[in-house]
Parts: sequence; C-alpha cells; structure tokens
Amino acid sequence: MSQPFYITTPIYYVNAEPHLGHAYSTIVADVAARFHRLTGDEVRFQTGTDEHGDKIAQAAEARGVTPQQYADQISGLFRHLWPELHITNDKFIRTTDPDHKQVVQSILQKVHDAGDIYFAKYGGHYCVGCERFLTEHEMVDGKCPDHGTVPVYQEEENYFFRMSNYTEQLKAHIEAHPDFIRPERYKNEVLAMLEQGLEDLCISRPKSRLTWGIDLPFDAGYVTYVWFDALINYLSGLGWPGGENMAKFWPGAQHLIAKDILKPHAIFWPTMLMSLARAEGRPAQDYLYKHLNVHGYWNVDQAKMSKSLGNVVRPLELAEIYGVEAFRYFLLRDMAFGLDSSFSEQALVERYNADLANDLGNLFSRVLTLLHKFRGGVVPEPGPEQAEDADLAALGAAVLREYRRENRTFAFHKALASVWSLISAGNKYVVVSEPWALAKDPALAPRLDRVLHDLCQLLARVAVLIWPVMPLTAEQMAGVLGLGRIEPGLLARLEEGQALLDPGSQTHQPPALFPRIDTAKVQAKAAKAGQKAEAKPAPQAAKKDQAPEKAAEEPAEIGIEQFGQVKLKVATVLSAERIPKADKILKLTLDAGEEEPRTVVAGVAQHYDPEELVGKQVVIVANLKPAKLRGITSQGMVLAAVGPDGLCVVSPSKPTPPGSQVR
Ligand code: MSP
Repeated sequence: MSQPFYITTPIYYVNAEPHLGHAYSTIVADVAARFHRLTGDEVRFQTGTDEHGDKIAQAAEARGVTPQQYADQISGLFRHLWPELHITNDKFIRTTDPDHKQVVQSILQKVHDAGDIYFAKYGGHYCVGCERFLTEHEMVDGKCPDHGTVPVYQEEENYFFRMSNYTEQLKAHIEAHPDFIRPERYKNEVLAMLEQGLEDLCISRPKSRLTWGIDLPFDAGYVTYVWFDALINYLSGLGWPGGENMAKFWPGAQHLIAKDILKPHAIFWPTMLMSLARAEGRPAQDYLYKHLNVHGYWNVDQAKMSKSLGNVVRPLELAEIYGVEAFRYFLLRDMAFGLDSSFSEQALVERYNADLANDLGNLFSRVLTLLHKFRGGVVPEPGPEQAEDADLAALGAAVLREYRRENRTFAFHKALASVWSLISAGNKYVVVSEPWALAKDPALAPRLDRVLHDLCQLLARVAVLIWPVMPLTAEQMAGVLGLGRIEPGLLARLEEGQALLDPGSQTHQPPALFPRIDTAKVQAKAAKAGQKAEAKPAPQAAKKDQAPEKAAEEPAEIGIEQFGQVKLKVATVLSAERIPKADKILKLTLDAGEEEPRTVVAGVAQHYDPEELVGKQVVIVANLKPAKLRGITSQGMVLAAVGPDGLCVVSPSKPTPPGSQVR
C-alpha cells in the first residue's frame, strides 16, 4: 500500500566545502527516496544548509566577509553539487530563510509559554566545534572526544529548555518502539545516555557574544542556540504548523544522520517535539518522528578525514573519474550501514571492476549479444520451463523480498548484495545452458527461446532494482531492452509476478556499461605517492584514459562472439604531435583506409618521439566509442604491448593496406 515517506539529511554547516561524508549522507537519502518512489510511495526529500552560529561567524570573519555573504557562497556549493550527483531532493532549506526563522520563533514562544523554558545562570565547558556545552561525562581527559580540543569554561546567564523533564518519557518511547533509532547499536547508546540522566539544555547565546542567529522572540538580547534553530528545519521545511505537506508527510518522517550528531537528533529533538506537543495539548506521538537512521563515518585509509591531514575526499573529482553511477554504487555497497568504513580509491576500482564491469556489464552485453546473434534482438516467446529456469525464477522472487526488506530498513548494502546474487546466478545460467550450443540444433530452438527470454526478463528486473542507486545505468539498460522509462510503482508490478518485457519486443545493441578500469595504474600511483595519492585522485587515473598499460586482474573469459564485437584495423600514422601540458599522450592522425583520416590519442608519449611514429603501421580498435581527452576527440585506440621497458605499439609484420581487418 502506498504511504507518504519523508526523508531528511542533516542540514550541513556552511563552514566547509562539501566532501565525501556529506555526499554519502545525501546519496543515501536519495537512494531511500528513489526506492520508496519505486514502491509507489509518495515521497518528499529534504536537504539544506545550517547557517547560524559561532563557527560560521568565525569562518566569515576570517575571510573578511559578512556571515550572510559567506553562507550564501558555501550554501551555493552544496546546492549546486547535488544535481551533479543525481540527487532528487524536493526541497533545499536554509536556516537563513525568512519562513524558517519565523517557525523557530513561533515554536520557541510556544514552548516558553508552556513553561518549558527558563532563565538561569550557568557555567559549563563549551566546545566551539560541537557548538554546545559538554557534560563531564562526555569529556575525555578534559577534552572534547570529537574535536580533541579543550572546551572553554564559560559562565553566563542564559535560557534553558527543560529537557530533563522528558527523560523518562523518551526512555519509555524508545523501549516501546525498538526501531525508533536504528541500527540497534545507536539505540543502545542513546539508552545509555538516558540512563546517566539528562541535564536541561542551554538554548540561547547572549548577543554580546554572538549576533549571527535567530532572535529569541521573548528576549531581544539573545539569539537562539544553533541546534534549537537547526533541528526545527525538519518541520519548517514542511510548512509547519499546518498545510498539506505537514499533514501528509510528518507522520512518516525519517531522519538520516551520521553518528556524530546522534545526541542532538536522538535526545534534543524528540524532547523538543514532546514539549511542543505538550504546549499544544496534543499527544507526543503526533510529533515524534518515525525513525532515526544512523550511519557510520567514512575514514580515509583508517584516518579521520580532515583538512589538516590533507585527506579530504572531494566527491566531484571521483565522480568525474569513475562516473557518478559507479561512485554512488561504491558508497552504498561498500559501507555496511551503521558501521564505519575506510575509503580508498583502490577499493573503489576493485569494486568497479568486479561488480560493475565483470558481473553486471558482462551479463548485460553477453545476453544481448546472444539475443541479437540468434534471435535478431527480439525477445522470444518462452519455451517450456525446466528445473534450472524454475530455480532462477525462485531466486528472483526471494531477491525481491529481501530487496524490499533491506532497503526499508536502510540496509542498502544488503539489498545490493542480494541483487548481485541474482546477477551472478544469471551469469551462471548462461554458462550452464550454453545458448551457443543450443543454437546449433534446430530441434533445441524452444529451449534457446526459453533461456534467452528468461535472461532478458532477468536483465529488466535488475535494471529496475538498481535504479535507486544507479538511475542512469538503469534507464540505459531499460532503453536498450525496450522497457521504456523506469516508473514509480514498478517494483509493485514485479512483486505481483508480472513480466516486464513482452515477447516479440525488439531490443537494441548493447553499449559497454562499465568499461574495465586499469587497476595497475591506480595501484602504482598509490604505492608511489603513499596514502595521500589514494585520497586525491589524479584525473587521468581511469575512465577518461582507457588505454590500459597493464591489467592487474585477469579479465573474465569471453566468447568468440564477444571478441567479434571489437573491430581491429591496420592504420598508417600520417602525423604525430605532442599535446601542450600533457606529457603522456600524443595526437596521431591515421590513415585507416577510410574517406577521412582519423584522430586518435595514444598514451605513448613517454615511449616514442612523435617523429618515430610517422609512417609506421599500427593496429587500432576502430569501433571504440569516441572519447574526449584533453579537449581532443579520440576516434579509437592504438594497441600497444606492455614490455619491460614500457609500451611498444603493435604493427603488422609486413606492410599491409590501411583499413585491413585484424582478427
Ligand atoms: N549542521 C549540523 C547538522 C544539523 S541537522 C539539524 C552538522 N553539520 S555538518 O556539516 O557537520 O554535517 C554532519 C553530517 O555530515 C554527518 O552527520 C553526516 O551526515 C555527514 N558527514 C560528515 N562527515 C562524515 C564522514 N566522514 N562520514 C560520513 N558522514 C559524514 O552537523
């Protein structure tokens, strides 16, 4: 049954540029949003920026601009990054938006009027990094455990929220709703905090100290503490207090955060909501969110990502090299949701090659190539079913159940593993049923029909299931298969057992979804430059520069029909020139026996002087998709052997007419 689903990311501070951690949370929220759309749920997805407070004021001051100017600039970086990563948020909220400010003030006033805010003198250990006073329990050796800094002892008169009053109510709610906070380890952490007892929460800052915030509605000498301001974005973004979005989406609200901000979300926020409910004379249930989903931290090669260590991973750089789709897949597949994970470019490349190039890419091109070869690309009527077909169908049904269950509870890595079990089964099914052998015997035509039919349906199913994580690849697969667009609610059709492709429908020739990446290059780079090189990918590492110098992993076995897809030709080098600021590549003009000469970029500049190549005959891959390298469109690839002294271009052993086929 279709249900409204509201998912939020943390709103990010505008004191630093977006990095891998921000990208991860936002991609996860996007995957959750897309998954729910696929199930037919009505979805609202919100992200945004958190712009008030000490940290922002200090960062702006350091740059000699106003906090608003600074916030505008960094908020813009976040806002513009998300479409690049194919994020489909419905709302981007900023805490400096006038309607948000108004909502914060209304809620403060209500809670104040209901007696849950009081004025008192307070002395405490303030951590600027956390933007809050730390309790004695939280400090380790007198320092903030997250920032490693000694909090500043401060004494001042402030407003306090009676958070402690809600300790028992919150505990009871968590115990009655065991998946209120998930995974379980974080629920247990929160219960342990509650066991120690809650203090009241200081929710103001005197203007003498900080002016960059929202004025308290009941005292113009103070601004609101950032967390009290920021958390309310989840309500203000829906148009609190009333309206269609509040009524529709708030009851199904789910937040997504990393473990660093567990306490504000698992303790400050629900107690604020309980107080608001009390102020309005409503049951707390009306206001409490449904789930808090907590993920772990990405470290870089076991170390915390930080500017000072110089290991901050920039999402766009990676997406540019490996493609957004592979980047999204890697993040979702590699991190067990809830646990920490260590990022390395090498791990990304390994997963890319194993899961995307080998498993998914191979299955897709294999099946479609067979279909085109033996059935003209038309999905056949299924012939009679055999045991192995039934096994594959049973696995498909089991995967669907697992997929829904794991995605609903944010265990995306498990949902993907389940989809990949189907892909592997598809690859095995090809090997076991040997379509090429079936094709030799006309009496076995119905069997071949069945095999090809089931494989096409499997690919269509896979396209739908990977859509939340890799929407473009899924759409591309769907287009080739003739499935059309992947629409909301399609998952339900699959679950009802409907076939996605009609027998008789025409498919297209398969493109290479994920060309293999040269792992040797990435490994060599990492070994040479140490950990830093891994964290800062050099733009020529992989996809853009597909001429592999050496494949570290053995490529999977291919059939002759797959080899036949590669068009190799002899060409004569007409001219060769260096390219300014590119020390590895040469621009070659080749006579390949065609009407016009071809331009091909070859990665041989460190092994040949341009003059040496002119007049030489080479072998090229003539049907490689054109690629832009350093602004030059390369129409093919020159083959070279990887010798101990470097690259050595492959030539016919005696002069051969340009354009001759190489087999
Ligand atoms: N402004 C607050 C959140 C207010 S929400 C009402 C804040 N901002 S933040 O910019 O510091 O973002 C923290 C969040 O960014 C984390 O909870 C997580 O979602 C993401 N990440 C930042 N670094 C991360 C990693 N290294 N790894 C994974 N996610 C991380 O806190």
